[in-house]
Amino acid sequence: QHILVLHGPNLNLLGTREPEIYGRQTLDDINRRLQQLAAGAGAECSVFQSNHEGELVDRIQAARRESVDFIIINAAAYTHTSVALRDALGAVNIPFVEVHLSNVYKREPFRHVSYLSDVAQGVVAGLGAFGYEAALQYALAH
Ligand code: DQA
Repeated sequence: QHILVLHGPNLNLLGTREPEIYGRQTLDDINRRLQQLAAGAGAECSVFQSNHEGELVDRIQAARRESVDFIIINAAAYTHTSVALRDALGAVNIPFVEVHLSNVYKREPFRHVSYLSDVAQGVVAGLGAFGYEAALQYALAH
C-alpha cells in the first residue's frame, strides 16, 4: 500500500507559525511519525510540502503514475480557493481525506468553505497533528 501525504502553503513553518492555533510540532515531527506508523503497518508513506499551487497539482498527477492508493491532504489556504487542486484530485481518482490542524469552523467564515470536502472520503479538522494520524489509520484500514 502506498499513501501520499500532501501539505500546502505555510505548513513548512509549523512549530513556529501561530503555535496557539497550529501546535508546536514541526512538519518534520509530523512526517516522521506518519512514516513510522506506515512502516509499522508494512505500507509506504511519501510526503510532500509546497507553497506553490501548481507544484501540488503536479504531485497529485504524479501520484497516479506511482500507483498511490490513498492521499491525505492538508491543502492549507488552497482548501478555500483552489479549483485546480479539486480537479487534480478528481482527475487521478485516488480516494483522499482532507485534514486541518485547526477547527476551521470556529474561525473566520472564509475558512468554512472548502473546494475539497464534498469530494473527499472524509474530513478531519481541529484535532491538531493527531488528525493526520487518524487519517493515516483510516487509509491503512481501507
Ligand atoms: C489549515 C487551515 C487553513 O484555513 C489555513 O489556511 C492553513 C492551515 C489547518 O491545518 O488548520 O494554512 O489548513
